[in-house]
Amino acid sequence: MATKSFFVTKNLPEKFFKNISKKFPMEMWPNSNEEIPRQKLLERVSGKTGLLCTLSDRIDRQLLDAAGPQLKCISTLSVGYDHIDIDECKRRGIVVGNTPDVLTDTVAELTIALLLATIRRLFEANQALRQGKWPAGWGHFFMCGSMIKGSHIGVIGGSGRIGRSVIKRLRSFEPAKISYTSRQEYPEMFREFNAEFYPLDRLLIESDIIIVCCSLNDSTRRLISTEQFKRMKSTSVIINTSRGSCIDQQALYEALKSRKIAAAGLDVYEQEPISMDDPLLSLDNVVLLPHIGSAAKSTREQMIQMALDNLEAGLEDRPLLASV
Ligand code: NDP
Ligand code: DGY
Repeated sequence: MATKSFFVTKNLPEKFFKNISKKFPMEMWPNSNEEIPRQKLLERVSGKTGLLCTLSDRIDRQLLDAAGPQLKCISTLSVGYDHIDIDECKRRGIVVGNTPDVLTDTVAELTIALLLATIRRLFEANQALRQGKWPAGWGHFFMCGSMIKGSHIGVIGGSGRIGRSVIKRLRSFEPAKISYTSRQEYPEMFREFNAEFYPLDRLLIESDIIIVCCSLNDSTRRLISTEQFKRMKSTSVIINTSRGSCIDQQALYEALKSRKIAAAGLDVYEQEPISMDDPLLSLDNVVLLPHIGSAAKSTREQMIQMALDNLEAGLEDRPLLASV
């Protein structure tokens, strides 16, 4: 039988590979400053039994064909798996691992940070100070924003791991109400967090702050577009730390520019990295972060370890720690 081997699409620290590399021959994309070009990825995956990838690698039929029928396990260094054609993997008997839980609290903290930065205008205020625009004395309406306390917060995908973790934290800010939406109602959400299940339209109409925490799938792609922005309050704020494609980015730009909604805080985009020509960059009522939801060093290390443990299990025909 041919030796099992694997390919890693990112340049990750060698220390994580000490054990697994003794068991299986491995290759890794060596360049930490440059994404692996698509053509190179198709070449390098050929003949491998395992693949460790990230959310920036598109795992589709073309890639699976290029890899060949011996490919048995794909392990992604992310909890999200919208970049992988899961149905096609299932059809070919390829197991897919991901990294839930280890990043949940990290992403929830970033979501709260982004929310506060957006509603209290932290980046604008910081910029104003540096540009000498601090009004003489103390301007009593200078850089005024809004508060979580007393607000209605609607969480799209609030029943998920990250959604719950966000809601748990938000409660300490004493919002007037928390509602959530998902494809089904979860009665424990009311018992544990006093969070009420709303259909999406009601959540959009009634919320002051909308937080997008759902996974990206066929039912959430461009879930929020022009019609949905029309339903939202003109004072409302939207935060997205899930996937950029859950929101129609052009419609978001128009809603922000025309002040149909008040502000947005984004960690994720339809295209990543966002183009420096993107019109969103011209607006002052949006806070833009470069997809750093899980970017705490200890979390990223746990994600790498979990992705490798998944890969090792897959190559050894054992159940993965977490599989899709
Ligand atoms: P979970 O699978 O635990 O949660 C996903 C949630 O999405 C569930 O509540 C699910 O509820 C909900 N959902 C799915 N479809 C819909 C729909 N049509 N309408 C409303 N809700 C829906 O995943 P996690 O909480 O662990 O992660 C969520 C996402 O966060 C990931 O998929 C990833 O895209 C993103 N993420 C972003 C990070 C960043 O760096 N910014 C870091 C980590 C994750 P139900 O199934 O009942 O519909
Ligand atoms: C994920 O895990 O899905 C993130 O987007 C990166 O941590």
